[in-house]
Formats: sequence, C-alpha cells, structure tokens
Amino acid sequence: MPSFPSTRLRRTRSTSWSRNLVRETRLSPHDLIWPLFITSGNGVEEPVASLPGVSRWSVDNIVDRAREAVTLGIPCVALFPNTPPDKRSDDGAEALNPDNLMCTAIRAVKDALGDEIGVLTDVALDPYTSHGQDGLIDEKGYVLNDATSEVLTAQALNQTEAGADIIAPSDMMDGRIGRIRNALEGGGHHNTQIMAYSAKYASAFYGPFRDAVGSGGLLKGDKKSYQMDPANADEAMREIAMDIAEGADSVMVKPGLPYLDIVRSAADGFNIPLFAYQVSGEYAMIEAAAAAGAGDRDALILETLMAFKRAGCSGVLTYHAAYAARLLND
Ligand code: PBG
Repeated sequence: MPSFPSTRLRRTRSTSWSRNLVRETRLSPHDLIWPLFITSGNGVEEPVASLPGVSRWSVDNIVDRAREAVTLGIPCVALFPNTPPDKRSDDGAEALNPDNLMCTAIRAVKDALGDEIGVLTDVALDPYTSHGQDGLIDEKGYVLNDATSEVLTAQALNQTEAGADIIAPSDMMDGRIGRIRNALEGGGHHNTQIMAYSAKYASAFYGPFRDAVGSGGLLKGDKKSYQMDPANADEAMREIAMDIAEGADSVMVKPGLPYLDIVRSAADGFNIPLFAYQVSGEYAMIEAAAAAGAGDRDALILETLMAFKRAGCSGVLTYHAAYAARLLND
C-alpha cells in the first residue's frame, strides 16, 4: 500500500482549464426566466424599495426589457401586474378584463418580438383582489377551492388569448391544472404550455414581491390554508405528481434556496422539466449581504444560480436574470 493517495482529486482542480474540463454543471443565460413588474402609464420606471435594483415598468418599458432579455439570451420573461387600486375588488374581476395591464403587456411584447421570446404569465388573483388573497374568499376569509379554480381558468384563457406562451398557476388550488388544460384544449390552444407552481410554500420570503404588486398592505392573515407547510417534503411530491397527471408541461418549486432538498427529490422522482423560483426575499437577502460588504454580489449570484442547476433544475426564475446573464456573457 502506498502511503500517499494515488487519486488526488485536487489534480483536476489545479488549473482553470482543467476545472472547465471536468465541470459537471453549466449555467447559461438560457437557464434563466426574468420576472418583470408592470405598472400603468408611459415611460414610467418605479423602483421597488424592498427590491433594490428592481423596478416596475410601464408597458412600453416592459417591451424594452423583453428586447434586452432577447439580446442577453434569456429565453423567457414572467409578467406580474401592479393593478391600480381602483381596479381591485373582492372578486378580482379585473383579472378577466382583456384590456388589463397584464394582457396589454403580453400583447405589446408579442407584437414587438413574436417568437423571439417566451412570455410566462402568473395565474392567481392576488394582484387584483382588494383583500390580497390569491382566490375568492368566504365570509370568514377562507379561500374557496372550486370557485377560485373556475375564475382562474377564465383568467388563464384571457392571458392565452392575449398571447401568453406559458400559463403559470401560482395559486395552489387543487385540480386547477386539469381544468385549465381542458379549457386550453377546448379553445384550440394546443401549444400553450402550463408551468405549474406545484410545490409552493407558505413562505416568509415573498414580502418584497407583495410590495411590488401592491398586495402586501391589503393582505389580511396568511396563505397557509392553500400554500404548503414548510415542514412538508413528501407532500410536495404528491403535489407534483397531481399536476403532472393533470397535464402540466413543467413544474416548479418555490421558494428556491431554502427548498433545494425538494428540488433534488423532484429531479430524481419525476421526468419533467423542473424550475425553481429564487423569490423576492432571496433576492433581497443577496442584495443586503452585498450592500453590507458581507459577500461579493457577482459571486453570490452565480453561486446560488449554479446551486439550482446542480440540484437538478432545468432553469430558474430570478430577478437577477439580466444581471447574471451579463456576467455569464462577459
Ligand atoms: C402570487 C405570487 C406570489 C409570488 C409569485 N406569485 C406571492 C404570494 O404567493 O404571496 C412570490 C414571488 C416572489 O416572492 O418573488 N400568487
């Protein structure tokens, strides 16, 4: 027996060319989906205080951001509206208006860029309700599953007819993927994809997002009666299995970094494109660390995004998408 190791793993790490050669995971701009917040008006950029570096954009500026995404190699943008307060109501009916902010932005991006970019749209009522919940509520504030699913199906069709490419229900009602899939097929929308927010947790990391879409101040209570308990992992596998059975084209785990165990189990257990959402609170955490000098911003961003790929993701929704794509393209 030699007294030294014959296999030295450090050999392959000793130079940059060698690290490039043996790297197991690759990260590229094609892995990224860029969430964008829409606001009313023209030529408007409104910075979101709790998300330094992220703004709400009026529709004309959203088109410019989508054009920027194409230039950077980002394949898809995700749109979220900040609905004006006077258009929010108990039943979130503005979600069904074919000329709402969301549909206007979808049409504008598709008119300008066509198939050069994918447009993913969030299906849930929280940007449209006066109570900030994702669905219709009863007198106790409990979110009703079937009545909500019905409205969400109409919302999904409304977005599809405006030109959305990927419908992404983020509401966590049971059975809504099947319902939406049937409605899409029935309407002749055979190529519209569904990315199911399958394992979406009742998380404390969504705070800045709720500021960005203006639902945070309105929300009474929490979303624990429909979003998942952070204590549960097996249940996430049941959620994913249901959404796949109902016709999802891809599935998502959300939030991202605190739930990489769920990502890995999902990647091992299911043969379907898998995404993670690095959510607003995660973005804010990285920015706060960088601002405090507790870490290098660029390195923190690229390390976390690589971690999602290593854990088995096909891609990641991240507010750092454009920033990260620029780093990767350099
Ligand atoms: C809406 C929705 C939320 C997020 C995406 N879609 C908020 C919530 O469920 O309260 C959060 C995204 C983020 O924090 O970046 N249902």
